[in-house]
Amino acid sequence: MLRLLTTFSSRTGRVALLAIFFILSLTWMLLSPSHDNPGLPTYSARYGHNSPHPIDSLIQTAENDLQDLLETEAHDLQDAADKYRARRGRHPPPGFAEWYKFAKSKDSLIVEEFFDQIYTDLTPYWALEPKELRRLARSIPTRILVRNKTAIMKTDEPRSWMDSWYDLVSKLEDGLPDLDMPINVMDETRLVVPWETITEYMQKEKVNRVMPSPSHVKSEYMSLNDWDGEDVEPYNPGFTVPGEGGYWEMARVGCPPGSPARNTNLPMVDFNEPPWEYGNFERLSYHGYVSNFSLAKDPCVRPEMQVLHGTFLEPVSVSTSHNLMPLFGGSKLPMNNEILLPPAMYWAQNDHYSGGEQEHGGPWESKTNKAVWRGAATGGRAREPNWTGFQRHRFMAMMNATAVAQAEKNQGHGINFRLPNYADYKLKDDGSVPQLLADHTDTGFNHLVCHPYIESDPRCPYLDPYFEVAPGMAMKTMYDFKYLPDLDGNSFSGRYRGFMLSTSLPIKATIYNEWHDSRLIPWVHFVPMDTTYLDIYGILAYFLGGRDDTARKIALAGKSWGEKVLRREDMQIYTYRLLLEYARICDDQREFLGYVDDLKAA
Ligand SMILES: *[C@@H]1O[C@H](CO)[C@@H](O)[C@H](O)[C@H]1NC(C)=O
Ligand SMILES: *[C@@H]1O[C@H](CO)[C@@H](O)[C@H](O)[C@H]1NC(C)=O
Ligand SMILES: *[C@@H]1O[C@H](CO)[C@@H](O)[C@H](O)[C@H]1NC(C)=O
Ligand SMILES: *[C@@H]1O[C@H](CO)[C@@H](O)[C@H](O)[C@H]1NC(C)=O
Repeated sequence: MLRLLTTFSSRTGRVALLAIFFILSLTWMLLSPSHDNPGLPTYSARYGHNSPHPIDSLIQTAENDLQDLLETEAHDLQDAADKYRARRGRHPPPGFAEWYKFAKSKDSLIVEEFFDQIYTDLTPYWALEPKELRRLARSIPTRILVRNKTAIMKTDEPRSWMDSWYDLVSKLEDGLPDLDMPINVMDETRLVVPWETITEYMQKEKVNRVMPSPSHVKSEYMSLNDWDGEDVEPYNPGFTVPGEGGYWEMARVGCPPGSPARNTNLPMVDFNEPPWEYGNFERLSYHGYVSNFSLAKDPCVRPEMQVLHGTFLEPVSVSTSHNLMPLFGGSKLPMNNEILLPPAMYWAQNDHYSGGEQEHGGPWESKTNKAVWRGAATGGRAREPNWTGFQRHRFMAMMNATAVAQAEKNQGHGINFRLPNYADYKLKDDGSVPQLLADHTDTGFNHLVCHPYIESDPRCPYLDPYFEVAPGMAMKTMYDFKYLPDLDGNSFSGRYRGFMLSTSLPIKATIYNEWHDSRLIPWVHFVPMDTTYLDIYGILAYFLGGRDDTARKIALAGKSWGEKVLRREDMQIYTYRLLLEYARICDDQREFLGYVDDLKAA
């Protein structure tokens, strides 16, 4: 079928494929229990000139969600332990009291939901035997060990991100049991375990989940000293490179059967024409805007991402295993199985990614009223002719007044993008969108990352007609602008934490997950954007059209929230909790390990 589709190029063929794709995704969405779909956009019909804007209600709902979340804060150790048991169905791990004390000493907000990602990541590992987990962990040469409360780094060659993660762990070593953490040092993710296997593992965990009576509970983790001396059979993780069909074919096995990504071989595009598979977002959105960010960014429900994101088009490097093994990394796709750590580049005090720890930008009123973006045309190998699917290239073209004016005259098609239906966003086809862009954006590539790649030459013969090379800009200079769109590169964007902590407003589009996802609320702390970028004009028109106060409010709410939950201390607290859990799962006595002092005292 795949091969057949690539040869399709007639208009009727494409319309028919679109229809099939539409029916399949609609069926899936209707059958899926968790869908959150307000139906086809009726926005232009329903909203008159004085009616509230859809973004107003998205903000209102999000503010209520945040209030609900804050009400779950734990106020003392007993409360935290109770909330843990209620949410996780186990006793907290040994060391929980010390962890709680550590968090409190850092003045941390303790909300159990903030740690959900840890359990999403670790739960399947309960299905493997502890001894087997320790064997698998040894197979990766880049590891951090803890022995006798001392962190030790093992690496095949000097690796900068290893140094940073080692620093994070070594500052926690006094509270940590013995453990072996294999680290992924690549930008790209490494594990995609088939959905069926993960589901089986999750079921196994659920069936075996117990809360033994306090008298049976042990509080001492095992020592790995003896284990270190044991001869174990080496494990081969079976990392492979993509075959035909690229990374998409490798990745979609991690999606549920019946999901659009598993069901459809669509869309395949003719790279001589602009990608056209945009209807899916319109259906998932709330009147054209992201309402459920974790759903909207999931490639399992967005099969069109295979031609709209460099990760699937042609990543720079892929080395993927379909077998579950412990592996820690800084970001992943929803279908990947890595264990997330706070990214090394957030922990490292690197001005290139943070703009400087002390640098957050001046007061809102003094900022230039524009959206700014600068960076390299990364995202994978954007070769001729399929660069037209790459996300950064799409965003740059969609922010370019000249390119957009041309597209308006060409039935909404640019060389590498399609314009949204303006009526859905209350936009007019009278030159006002290009004017908005000309007046309110300052975006450009500082390097076109041509293939073949020449570092000293930022230009590129096949991209030159569409993109100028703009001078670079330091991150702290970007904070002089009100709006900060943030886009994926080869994987997640390392600037995001700096953007969140700045006095400017991040507009975030990504398909990657990070450690902090459950602690940042879209529309309260940042503005979510879709990776099709269909919503960007509506977003800019909303804020620039008389809602400067709302933009300022979100920018500053994000900053002050970030100062509560994205601090370096918060990365430590998250990592500390994660490693207690991880060490328990790798412990021969794991079913009996727990913190129960609160129950004994009662
Ligand atoms: C840890 O301590 C034990 C005994 O207390 C000792 O035998 C072992 O060599 C130590 N291991 C390391 C890595 O220091
Ligand atoms: C958002 O989508 C996720 C699936 O990705 C689902 O689990 C969750 O319940 C949805 N949230 C809401 C508020 O509907
Ligand atoms: C993109 O182009 C490269 C080189 O021509 C090719 O190897 C790759 O398969 C293409 N990707 C897609 C999705 O067609
Ligand atoms: C904007 O688009 C036009 C037409 O595609 C192109 O010539 C120009 O270089 C682009 N400008 C920038 C800053 O990339």
